[in-house]
Amino acid sequence: MIVLGIETSCDETGVALYCTERGLLAQALHSQIAMHEHFGGVVPELASRDHVRRVLPLTEQVLAQAGCTLDALDAVAYTAGPGLVGALLVGAATAAALARSLDIPAIGVHHLEGHLLSPLLSSDPPAFPFVALLVSGGHTQLLEVAGVGSYRLLGETLDDAAGEAFDKSAKLLELGYPGGPAIAALAAQGRPGRFSLPRPMLHSGELDFSFSGLKTAVLIAARAGLPDEAARADLAWEVQEAITEVLAAKAVAAVARTGANRLVVAGGVSANRRLRERLEQARARDGFAVHFPELELCTDNGAMIALVGALRLSGAMQGATPVRSFEVRPRWPLAELAAVGTGAT
Ligand code: KG4
Ligand code: ZN
Repeated sequence: MIVLGIETSCDETGVALYCTERGLLAQALHSQIAMHEHFGGVVPELASRDHVRRVLPLTEQVLAQAGCTLDALDAVAYTAGPGLVGALLVGAATAAALARSLDIPAIGVHHLEGHLLSPLLSSDPPAFPFVALLVSGGHTQLLEVAGVGSYRLLGETLDDAAGEAFDKSAKLLELGYPGGPAIAALAAQGRPGRFSLPRPMLHSGELDFSFSGLKTAVLIAARAGLPDEAARADLAWEVQEAITEVLAAKAVAAVARTGANRLVVAGGVSANRRLRERLEQARARDGFAVHFPELELCTDNGAMIALVGALRLSGAMQGATPVRSFEVRPRWPLAELAAVGTGAT
């Protein structure tokens, strides 16, 4: 079975072909970073228009790469939410039109479930059950994953997401967008000792997070004056330390609390090297396994959407109900996933 996956929830147009027998056949991505950079963040209307321009050429590209024609498709999966409504509608409408014309199902996929299951695409996929640390631009969650479709929320951010904390801090430091990679690059030249930022809720005893106070602390530090490039690098270093220390500590606590012996880290922030380093250290100390998706699968991509579409179609998911239109859900808690599932257009 071959599924075309289309991701257009934010600022990346991702398209991929996933085959249940042969795995990932082809994938293509267009990042809009260069277009939004100028504005310091994603401009929703520009994002939607660019998805319109890219989605069909990228679809043709993956079909050519895989040596397939449209007739080979068994379904089209698309990101139905959460995300920017206009951007989501481009993928949804494209998927619905393709599916109708080919008389195959269109499957609305939850973006976070895509991130959550993306490690299954890796060369060394994790076995179930595992604890997942899901860290993207809009979400920070810890989940207990018993199997495909079985997710229990252990903790989440009460305000800003970890990616947002990186992005907002980067803005305060007048770095580019997206902020995570920019902070990480500047932090590489930074040194400890000059700044001391809070580690929000580090010792709260809960698995929830809070990152909004961090940006205020960064704002205060920046306003107090950053005399030179070395000072900016030192602040970037401390921002990265503060965010990754909290993320790693809570993830380790979640592993201990659930008795799981495997941790999966997914979403854009999982690309962060310092976070990886901290979790590697915890793995070596506590003896649990850690899985990170390959770097290209950490950030938004079509492959994870095609994968979840295929899993839903092959009946591996629980709680699947038919989707009869190309409705999108800009806000869509993962816990409500069972309410929208698979089926024909
Ligand atoms: O999962 P993702 O690509 O998109 C969403 O679904 O939100 O995550 C994007 C987020 C952004 O906040 C970006 O700054 C962050 O991931 N990010 C990073 C790194 N690469 C991307 N944060 C820290 N370090 C990185 N290397
Ligand atoms: Zn994402």
